Amino acid sequence: MARMQLFLLPFLEIVLLAEASFLLGQSSPRDIMMGNSSLIDGQTLISAGSVFQLGFFSPVNDSGTSYIGIWYYNLPPRESKVVVWVANRNRSVDTSMASLNLTSDGNLILFEEGTKVWSTGRPAELNSVRLQLLDSGNLVLTASNSSRTLWQSFDHGCDTLLPGMKTGFDFRTNTSWQFMPWTSATDPSPGKYVAKIETYNVPEFYTVSVNGSLKLFRTGPWNGQWFSGLPQMGSNIVLTHLNFTYVSNQNEIYYMTEYQTRSPELIRVLVFTNVSYQSWSFVEGEWRIIFSFPSDDCDYYNHCGRNSVCTKGYYSTSCRCLEGFVENKSVVGCARKEPLLCSWNQFSKEPSVKVPDTENATSGGNISLDSCKKLCLDDCSCVAFAVINGPYGCITWRGELLDLRSFTDGGDDLYIRLPGSSTSNLKKLVWAIVISVLLGFLLLCSVGVLARRRRNRASTCRLQLQFPNVQKDVLPSYDLRTIKAATNDFSDENKLGEGGFGVVYKGQLEDEQNIAVKKLSRYSSHGPDEFQNELSLIAKLQHRNLVRLLGCCIEGYERLLILEYMENKSLDAFIYDKAKSSLLNWQRRFNIIIGIARGLLYLHQDSRLRVIHRDLKPSNILLDKDMNPKISDFGIARIFEGDNALEDATTRPVGTM
Ligand SMILES: *[C@@H]1O[C@H](CO)[C@@H](O)[C@H](O)[C@H]1NC(C)=O
Ligand SMILES: *[C@@H]1O[C@H](CO)[C@@H](O)[C@H](O)[C@H]1NC(C)=O
Ligand SMILES: *[C@@H]1O[C@H](CO)[C@@H](O)[C@H](O)[C@H]1NC(C)=O
Ligand SMILES: *[C@@H]1O[C@H](CO)[C@@H](O)[C@H](O)[C@H]1NC(C)=O
Ligand SMILES: *[C@@H]1O[C@H](CO)[C@@H](O)[C@H](O)[C@H]1NC(C)=O
Ligand SMILES: *[C@@H]1O[C@H](CO)[C@@H](O)[C@H](O)[C@H]1NC(C)=O
Ligand SMILES: *[C@@H]1O[C@H](CO)[C@@H](O)[C@H](O)[C@H]1NC(C)=O
Ligand SMILES: *[C@@H]1O[C@H](CO)[C@@H](O)[C@H](O)[C@H]1NC(C)=O
Ligand SMILES: *[C@@H]1O[C@H](CO)[C@@H](O)[C@H](O)[C@H]1NC(C)=O
Ligand SMILES: *[C@@H]1O[C@H](CO)[C@@H](O)[C@H](O)[C@H]1NC(C)=O
Ligand SMILES: *[C@@H]1O[C@H](CO)[C@@H](O)[C@H](O)[C@H]1NC(C)=O
Ligand SMILES: *[C@@H]1O[C@H](CO)[C@@H](O)[C@H](O)[C@H]1NC(C)=O
Repeated sequence: MARMQLFLLPFLEIVLLAEASFLLGQSSPRDIMMGNSSLIDGQTLISAGSVFQLGFFSPVNDSGTSYIGIWYYNLPPRESKVVVWVANRNRSVDTSMASLNLTSDGNLILFEEGTKVWSTGRPAELNSVRLQLLDSGNLVLTASNSSRTLWQSFDHGCDTLLPGMKTGFDFRTNTSWQFMPWTSATDPSPGKYVAKIETYNVPEFYTVSVNGSLKLFRTGPWNGQWFSGLPQMGSNIVLTHLNFTYVSNQNEIYYMTEYQTRSPELIRVLVFTNVSYQSWSFVEGEWRIIFSFPSDDCDYYNHCGRNSVCTKGYYSTSCRCLEGFVENKSVVGCARKEPLLCSWNQFSKEPSVKVPDTENATSGGNISLDSCKKLCLDDCSCVAFAVINGPYGCITWRGELLDLRSFTDGGDDLYIRLPGSSTSNLKKLVWAIVISVLLGFLLLCSVGVLARRRRNRASTCRLQLQFPNVQKDVLPSYDLRTIKAATNDFSDENKLGEGGFGVVYKGQLEDEQNIAVKKLSRYSSHGPDEFQNELSLIAKLQHRNLVRLLGCCIEGYERLLILEYMENKSLDAFIYDKAKSSLLNWQRRFNIIIGIARGLLYLHQDSRLRVIHRDLKPSNILLDKDMNPKISDFGIARIFEGDNALEDATTRPVGTM
């Protein structure tokens, strides 16, 4: 209720203003202009509910040059107009010599000294027309006798999408509903970029250079509720403000934002070097960003190059080749390890990603995952597929896979084609019989060993999580060679510390980044479960007081965790050493205590998971170069969840003896 009243305040003010102008003998504000009349500087149209105003404005004070535009009426500060639409974007006029004439034959023309500067187009040849500024911000030219729309400003967007405005393509007229930012804050002429929906087989919303050769960012295809590459669009906070519509048929294809019926506020979407959804806060008197994109490096088109996945970490952004691809200096990104063959019939799943650019993709419609897989296998050039909710369903890709990123929440699963056995079922059967006859007994004996080897040979950090309700994350995987090179083949000089679990080494990657490598001992009590536990937990926790996991390496029997390198080692090295402990003044000690407390608060309360560390001790508190503390070693940590919290209770002593 209070919100509603605040919303009404400006209108109250407008009523008072209207009264004042009445007292001054001026004509009352009008929202309609009839044919055979004109508008000159100082005259304006104001929408019936006093939301928008149309008239001449000048982006530079007292410059004498001006444009016809529409702006919010009465938004503070009153001197600076928040312009949402400009008619003569390309060419300004001298205010004193310009007039906007609505001819009786239905053409709206801006004249400067009798010269036509801008117009709505060819005359509609109607006797009676009217021009009206609506409360939505739309300027509409209609035939008075039929109320048929002849022209509307919503079809000719500038840089602001208002609720009810379409972005897309009209196949009936071959015109694009699109948006182009101003060249600069004082020059409304179209800038270098355009935001629009590309009508590919699987359409997407893109920002591209005007010449079309450079893509800046894209949203991914529509998933029935939002753009699949913008999971933030589906969050509750966004959906309490906005209501999205997406229509695709033979006449038109468009995307539209509308007010959520219960939101009494002003909304605009500003297309600039980014696209930001904003709402006007009457309380603060400023525009608030609801959400915007690009929101991080990975949102920029093809940030990692082809056939790779961009991952935004807490501190940095990383790139990783898709399975079946390797880094290759001759291309930006990754190239195939071996050429694609028609017989390839395996797929590797890339979970929770923004699917690749759909420029050359094909939609197979609303079919099951299995049918989609079959569709891909039947096409020798198909390299990947995904099934997305919404109008496009099964999508298959050919050629390079561009602009993938991973999400911690949201995104879709992409299946990438990999080499697989091409043997026929008959051959398989023969082989199975031969093997079972000859090796049956032997095989049974060695099953355990084989299974173990296979598990250990997995070359990525993809995990089978033992925890329910936790999404799988995929961490960058390093190969053993890289890590051996970085740690000087695990040399003793590089040893940082040792524990029951194995040894920690210092390393330096090719790009000079320092890392800490935790090498788990083959014989340690800190077995595979602890390793999995640590890997899965720490990958999901991101906080500046927790040690960050950069990746892992699983090769043969080796299990390595790649962690950020902490210059000042661990806290025990300071507090149990007389000389060093003097380096810790009270301010530093206080900072360390606060840092640990923050880390714990995050673990216990603020993270997506509730985690109990169970082995917190000075040697597990690491210090970076600025002596900021970070909690490490999640080998025996546990998730503590609402429903089964009590059952999870620990019944035996754990941690350090
Ligand atoms: C337009 O208006 C002017 C006077 O305002 C009038 O003289 C003229 O006849 C009108 N033209 C048409 C086509 O109605
Ligand atoms: C234009 O003039 C107004 C009032 O004098 C001032 O507040 C505003 O900052 C000026 N704008 C520019 C772009 O100079
Ligand atoms: C502005 O001018 C460019 C070329 O100079 C033209 O392509 C474009 O259509 C014009 N835009 C408008 C809104 O008139
Ligand atoms: C535009 O309208 C004004 C006022 O009605 C009129 O004086 C002027 O001649 C018109 N301009 C043209 C080019 O018709
Ligand atoms: C409206 O007026 C135009 C031109 O005078 C005419 O062609 C059209 O038939 C009229 N429409 C209706 C619904 O009367
Ligand atoms: C739109 O463009 C397509 C291809 O360029 C063309 O075939 C079609 O006739 C055009 N339609 C209209 C209404 O101009
Ligand atoms: C297209 O525009 C972009 C950005 O303005 C520019 O970098 C690129 O060189 C242009 N390409 C061509 C072929 O003109
Ligand atoms: C969203 O907009 C559509 C179309 O205007 C409307 O039918 C629907 O009820 C709206 N949804 C909500 C939750 O307001
Ligand atoms: C959008 O871009 C502008 C200019 O580059 C920048 O000032 C602004 O902070 C950006 N907004 C968001 C939400 O990223
Ligand atoms: C990189 O790709 C090119 C062409 O695809 C290929 O000829 C070359 O062998 C690749 N290099 C490496 C190191 O894989
Ligand atoms: C789609 O195919 C065209 C023509 O082969 C190519 O230039 C373009 O880069 C491809 N786009 C994507 C996203 O792969
Ligand atoms: C896809 O098909 C299923 C079952 O045939 C149906 O329930 C679902 O609504 C369809 N989805 C769309 C987006 O049409």
